[in-house]
Amino acid sequence: MRIGIIGAGAMARALGGGWSAAGHEVLIGARTAAAAAESAASIGGRAGSITDAATFGDVVLLALPVPALSEVLHATGELLAGRTVVDCTNAFAPDAAAPEGATAFVLAEDAVAERVAALAPGAHVVKAFNLCAAEVWQAKARVFDERRLAVPLCGDDEAALRVVAGLAEDLGSRALPAGGLHRARYLEAMSVFTVGLWFAGHDARAMFPPVEAAFAVVD
Ligand SMILES: NC(=O)c1ccc[n+]([C@@H]2O[C@H](COP(=O)([O-])OP(=O)(O)OC[C@H]3O[C@@H](n4cnc5c(N)ncnc54)[C@H](OP(=O)(O)O)[C@@H]3O)[C@@H](O)[C@H]2O)c1
Repeated sequence: MRIGIIGAGAMARALGGGWSAAGHEVLIGARTAAAAAESAASIGGRAGSITDAATFGDVVLLALPVPALSEVLHATGELLAGRTVVDCTNAFAPDAAAPEGATAFVLAEDAVAERVAALAPGAHVVKAFNLCAAEVWQAKARVFDERRLAVPLCGDDEAALRVVAGLAEDLGSRALPAGGLHRARYLEAMSVFTVGLWFAGHDARAMFPPVEAAFAVVD
């Protein structure tokens, strides 16, 4: 599969590197040729402009800071029509109410994925890969305590969801269908909450029992 990535930073390299290693053709597009070239070289992919990345393949990953989305999508939104657009972004801002010395975050904006869909009419937007740090995707494996990492996916287009589920599996994780794009805002909120706990040194995973123990009767 041909995958264009807009942005040449940590997530572009982490996810793009995994997809390249899995046999996909990856093109990284950035606003400077040098950044695209350096990032692409590090993963064995191709380099290009942001427009090149938007038009390279059926799948386009937005690996950008949220404040860059408006500008980039105003320039490329129409080019994304009919393509699967993967939104891994998070809009974190420092929590001004956090105690002195503690690092915590709040959402600078909610419903980012829905805004992406509005800025790219006709694109099949899927929210995915926003919960875990780039290092998780760069690690050798996605199995922890004998449990394969689950990647929640929110989107409205069944075909696009299948494609992104396959891309999650190509990275050694498993896809977790999590509803339509209107639910992506909860993934975004989950990310800011969970990452805050991790930054504070807590084991966020310990919050959840296995499904067998979650209720008296599993539905
Ligand atoms: N890193 C993580 O662990 C992680 C995990 C989950 C989700 N995310 C989310 O994934 C997204 C990307 O994160 P990242 O860590 O890959 O960021 P990053 O390393 O800072 O890279 C961001 C990329 O976006 C480009 N960019 C910034 N502003 C731009 C603009 N106005 N127009 C065009 N390109 C622009 C940067 O280009 P320049 O070099 O030219 O500035 C850079 O290539 C963010 O929304 C982040 O919240 C990150």
